[in-house]
Amino acid sequence: MAPDNQNFSEGLEGIAIAESAISLVEGEEGRLTYRGYSIEDITSPESTFEEIVALLYDGTLPNSDRVNEIQQLFEKERELSDGQIEIARRAAIETHPMFALQAAVATLGPMDNDFEQKVDTVTDRGLSLIAKVGHLVGIIAQAADGREYSGPLKGESHASMLVRMITGETPTDLQVRVMNALLILQADHSAGNASTFTARVVTSTKSEPEAVISAGIGALSGPAHGGANEASLRLFERIGKPDEAEAKITELLDEKFKIPGFGHRVYHVKDPRSKVIQQLATEVITENTLASDHYEIALTVEKVATERLGHRGLFPNVDLFSGCIFEAIGVPIDFFTPLFAAARTLGWMVNMQEQWDSGNRIFRPGQIYVGESYREYTNITDR
Ligand SMILES: CC(C)(COP(=O)(O)OP(=O)(O)OC[C@H]1O[C@@H](n2cnc3c(N)ncnc32)[C@H](O)[C@@H]1OP(=O)(O)O)[C@@H](O)C(=O)NCCC(=O)NCCS
Repeated sequence: MAPDNQNFSEGLEGIAIAESAISLVEGEEGRLTYRGYSIEDITSPESTFEEIVALLYDGTLPNSDRVNEIQQLFEKERELSDGQIEIARRAAIETHPMFALQAAVATLGPMDNDFEQKVDTVTDRGLSLIAKVGHLVGIIAQAADGREYSGPLKGESHASMLVRMITGETPTDLQVRVMNALLILQADHSAGNASTFTARVVTSTKSEPEAVISAGIGALSGPAHGGANEASLRLFERIGKPDEAEAKITELLDEKFKIPGFGHRVYHVKDPRSKVIQQLATEVITENTLASDHYEIALTVEKVATERLGHRGLFPNVDLFSGCIFEAIGVPIDFFTPLFAAARTLGWMVNMQEQWDSGNRIFRPGQIYVGESYREYTNITDR
């Protein structure tokens, strides 16, 4: 064994990977702030995703002119070529929407591959891609549902476009409000979460923004990260009846099953995003629906798992409840995580910009080598 002169922390726990001024997760207090503003304040009924795009990029709360500017920019930049639309639609019928999205985003990349020469375009490219990724999620949803392509409408906000393209229906104000809130809540979560860390690692190799986003999507897809919202709903479907939830969750916990939507590396209290989502749930979930059954099951999961694991600092995270309100506004289960990706593209792109602004040194951590030391080689004929 030859230690490589390194400190080792499994899962990089307790290691800072960047200095960042974008968002702050305070795990003991259960607080999340973007540029110093609390998540509760910036998900007010009037808040829009475009407003938070401006906040995260500019560092200050925008006035309405700036929000309109972002809205107009998105309308222009979300345009895609016929080929890009066709590829996204084709991928949608071959694979899970998250993988289709990852593939489709990669096809947005340029013909050349040397981002350092173009680093002064990092803001424009980022903003353009946030608009385009949302559009791609809508395209993939239409194709997966066997519908014709029907692209963004003039004057349509990002949230409204997503609801309309995913559900196939004209959105209500409440659906748009919930979509805005979910996009805002999932837009960023410090530089250290797995997908943003991935985005920073890929940025550090001077990759193009499309490569950064598609790598982020890959990291987000796993059930230990963004995929937990889909995994929660799949579990609720398996449980089926709310009155059977307590017994089934107890059984799963006895088997040491990791309940999706529960636990967090940083939060040791209830995730503040789930409190905002639960407030919205009271408005958007109507009684005697599948979503209300699933929400009831989620509440039972919270009760049973908190009784068993709360003393160890394990509580519900954002994914225990987010799926229930996605479901209540008509989003199919396998589009929960792609929507998370559409939201988090904002965080990835602002983190990319921040990393370039701070010098962008390549990530190259070490290892503790635990393999064999030098051994004598034997030719294949002698073995
Ligand atoms: C989020 C998560 C990946 C954090 O992982 P982590 O910080 O590495 O924590 P660990 O997986 O090492 O868990 C520590 C202990 O808590 C237990 N635990 C953690 N999350 C649990 C869960 N969701 N259900 C049951 N037990 C859980 C582990 O079994 C482990 O117990 P042990 O010490 O007896 O072996 C983990 O809590 C998890 O897998 N949660 C479910 C997936 C999820 O919701 N992800 C979205 C996060 S926003």
